[in-house]
Amino acid sequence: MPDMTTGTTAPTGSTTATTAPPTHDEVMTVLGSVIDPELGADIVSLGMVPSVEVAADGLVTVGIKLTIGGCPLRAEIKKEVESRVALHPGVTDVKIAWGEMNAEERSQVMTKARWNARENAPDTEVPLSCNVLAIASGKGGVGKSSVTVNVAAALAAAGHTVGVLDADIWGFSVPRLLGISDRMEAKQVDGSDKPLIVPNERIVGDGVLKVVSTGFLVDEDTALMWRGLMLTKAVEQFLRDVRWGDLDYLLIDMPPGTGDVQMGLARLLPRTDLIVVTTPALAAQKVAQRAADMAKRSFLKVVGVIENMSAFTCDHGETYALFGEGGGDALAAAIDAPLLGRVPLEPAVAAGGDDGNPVALDGTGAAADVFRSIAEVIISDIAPPPAPDGVDMAGCSARLFETVNAKLAELDAE
Ligand SMILES: Nc1ncnc2c1ncn2[C@@H]1O[C@H](COP(=O)(O)OP(=O)(O)O)[C@@H](O)[C@H]1O
Ligand SMILES: [Mg+2]
Repeated sequence: MPDMTTGTTAPTGSTTATTAPPTHDEVMTVLGSVIDPELGADIVSLGMVPSVEVAADGLVTVGIKLTIGGCPLRAEIKKEVESRVALHPGVTDVKIAWGEMNAEERSQVMTKARWNARENAPDTEVPLSCNVLAIASGKGGVGKSSVTVNVAAALAAAGHTVGVLDADIWGFSVPRLLGISDRMEAKQVDGSDKPLIVPNERIVGDGVLKVVSTGFLVDEDTALMWRGLMLTKAVEQFLRDVRWGDLDYLLIDMPPGTGDVQMGLARLLPRTDLIVVTTPALAAQKVAQRAADMAKRSFLKVVGVIENMSAFTCDHGETYALFGEGGGDALAAAIDAPLLGRVPLEPAVAAGGDDGNPVALDGTGAAADVFRSIAEVIISDIAPPPAPDGVDMAGCSARLFETVNAKLAELDAE
């Protein structure tokens, strides 16, 4: 697990610092957030990065050794490496020098992967294959929580297991929006020496929502203790002390404004991607951009923009742009991320929130449709779900991993 607290200090004061190329160590730290999806560990600790060169003009050349030259993960690793390294404002271009491991290196990697998987207790209870999407905005009241629960509900309705972490410790609203009020307390669970919190579940079609919020901590002492924690500590505890179990997605409803939580996430779950919610007002877009800038500084990727409270179309077909127009497009262009959808201002969204049934579940109307189409884009493009158990991953390293694992198990047995 790379330590994001070293070597990646956000530039302060000096203006030149933002454009100076990153140091070798900074690039290595970022590369430490690129996970080989089949080996379940980052490419640096797996020894897949033999070299990093940073030129004075900001060109970064990353050497990557693949287990097998024709590895089908090559394209994915390339995309991850290029996009993550390019997040640094001082990087002008990223080049990859490909290499292939020899038999000895390959077996070393497999041993390391095995060691990582078994010996290294995971830093969080969130499974490695889970897609983590943090829903952020520059300020409150733009519909961040409504977007979170509706997208989560639509992902679950598509058959996925979706965690919802209400990281808005003081302004929590997820319990009401999802109509869940069960208490939640830490208890003894299998495979853990400390008590863990088990999320509240709500079955949605073939999928399930697993929900955690300080709003469920009804025991006043516990609630006070949690809310008294520093925000980042509380979120950290939610990632470490919750028995999430299987998850395809974890959606995090971020507290408004603060950069601390993003920094904390970057350190604990460096593969977190951000979705930024904005209203259509052009002025709001500037505020939302702050969330994106903070993300950039902590090397988190913004994978999409959602415009909420967009023009309302009445039954007669008349359209009212009550909160202005163009904010979503402007933000998407400014931060170079796709606009995933425009959710119209619609009474059904608020009503669905009031009675705990997100409109995206069974609702009809434009807003419900947009939430469902956003979930579809997430599934198909933005963050495809992990391959279900039993499906043969066409990849190289997974099979190698199994073979080596079986060999090592034989040796263990001797
Ligand atoms: N698309 C929408 N149409 C109508 N009302 C909405 C829409 N999105 C959010 N709201 C309402 O706006 C208010 C703020 O939304 P909320 O999701 O709590 O924002 P945030 O989490 O950003 O503070 C809530 O009352 C919610 O019901
Ligand atoms: Mg909220």
